[in-house]
Amino acid sequence: MNRYRMHINGEPVESRRGGWFPVYDPSTEEILAEAPDADEHDVDNAVQAARAAFDSGAWPQTTAQERGRILLRLAERIRKESAMLGELESRNSGKPIVEAEFDIADVATCFEYYGGLATKVMEHVNPVPDNALSLSLKEPVGVAGQIIPWNYPLLMAAWKLAPALAAGCTCVLKPAEQTPLTVLEMARWFADVGLPPGVVNIVTGFGETAGAPLVRHPDVNKIAFTGSAAVGKVILKSAADTIKRVTLELGGKSPNIFFADADFEAAIDGALFGVFINQGEVCSAGSRILVERSIYSRFVEGMTVKAKRIKLGAPLVRETKMGPLVSKEQYERVRSYQELGKQEAKLASGGGRPAGFDKGYYVEPTIFCDVDNSARIAREEIFGPVATVIPFKDEAEAVRIANDTPYGLAAAVWSRDIFRAFRVVKALRAGVVWVNHMQPTYVEAPWGGYKQSGFGRELGPWGIEEYLETKQVHINLNEQPIGWY
Ligand code: NAI
Ligand code: MG
Repeated sequence: MNRYRMHINGEPVESRRGGWFPVYDPSTEEILAEAPDADEHDVDNAVQAARAAFDSGAWPQTTAQERGRILLRLAERIRKESAMLGELESRNSGKPIVEAEFDIADVATCFEYYGGLATKVMEHVNPVPDNALSLSLKEPVGVAGQIIPWNYPLLMAAWKLAPALAAGCTCVLKPAEQTPLTVLEMARWFADVGLPPGVVNIVTGFGETAGAPLVRHPDVNKIAFTGSAAVGKVILKSAADTIKRVTLELGGKSPNIFFADADFEAAIDGALFGVFINQGEVCSAGSRILVERSIYSRFVEGMTVKAKRIKLGAPLVRETKMGPLVSKEQYERVRSYQELGKQEAKLASGGGRPAGFDKGYYVEPTIFCDVDNSARIAREEIFGPVATVIPFKDEAEAVRIANDTPYGLAAAVWSRDIFRAFRVVKALRAGVVWVNHMQPTYVEAPWGGYKQSGFGRELGPWGIEEYLETKQVHINLNEQPIGWY
């Protein structure tokens, strides 16, 4: 059996208890590898290593230039090994190889971006009225605990690690139990690229046994989490005991809004891409497709015709456009929403397991139409290839339905009327809004949600800010006594 080891204090290690958990290939349902099943003792070892690497100055006192160079060397290594990483990511997560290759390129770009940004953290002189020099210094938050999901395994690791390291923080990262492999491959290169031991520690295991102890740990200063809203709430409560800094990215039920004047072919494509890319396992999936009544039936028909042509298949086949879902659990969850949808709305396309696959967690790309926004399939995050198409009569109704959700991660609006497009952009309560597109994401631009999609922003200069504290320094330039008493 191919056994991976965790990465703690620069060493490949097993769990203290010696337990292992299986990691699957979701297209064959077979075990691909095993990873150490960490518990709170392993987490404690990792936190102590990160704490020591921070408190000794090993990382925060490495110059920003040198930290940047190390991140650039890591990026270079990732590009060199991108074929191996892409294939492993595709095999383990089920995503099509072509998409996995894009992800790995984005991983390298993320480390490059923050490698450059390390030297561009600006500090301020505050214009106080007294004879003094008042400064705002930026300092790393300390030890960052980072908990990530399985839909973009190595990319989510990069979004978490790159800004933290650029800021001078040390890290304990827990990948999702479904997909720990690519980040463990990357950990093998940490020493080569010059990361001192303990700066990045990777702990593999399950949420309650390895994630929760990281959130509770008194020596962790900050938690960055991407995953379900349910777990986000648990983390926020637990982090309260030690007043940790917390950032949360919790997915959503994002509206993709189509007005009748939008380019029709581009709109159909955009509706499908918005909800079916990465098997729909996307936090910003455009899973509520709002369509103006005058084009509604033609739109549903157009989507249905094209959806039936989506090529499902083995992840490593280059023509595949949709692979299996990541796990049995996710398969069962999505299948149950497909069945629920048949009671709540009208099935336009898909709705089950595709024919011709006896193995693998495949589901059909599924479209429900005539959906009421109060239906559970329109309110709950499904995180699979299930679209709900909802009609609207005018702009005001479109905005009302779009915002009628507890979530607020993303949204998109399609129209050739620039006035309307911008009015709608401003009215939408979401952290990311696209016009005449959906899903492109750039390391240079902020990412994060409104409402119950969480708080904090990743990427760009916003991303590094979340790993920095501000220290106010007052330097008295007046040599006289205060003269108060
Ligand atoms: P999850 O939220 O349970 O898992 C995400 C990460 O949190 C994993 O690393 C997991 O081990 C960890 N975790 C779980 N419980 C924890 C706890 N008590 N303390 C600390 N860490 C914990 O997500 P799951 O169960 O894999 O998927 C369930 C649903 O969550 C999906 O159907 C989808 O709707 C949503 N989700 C949203 C994501 C997003 O990008 N916003 C990503 C993954 C899932
Ligand atoms: Mg869970």
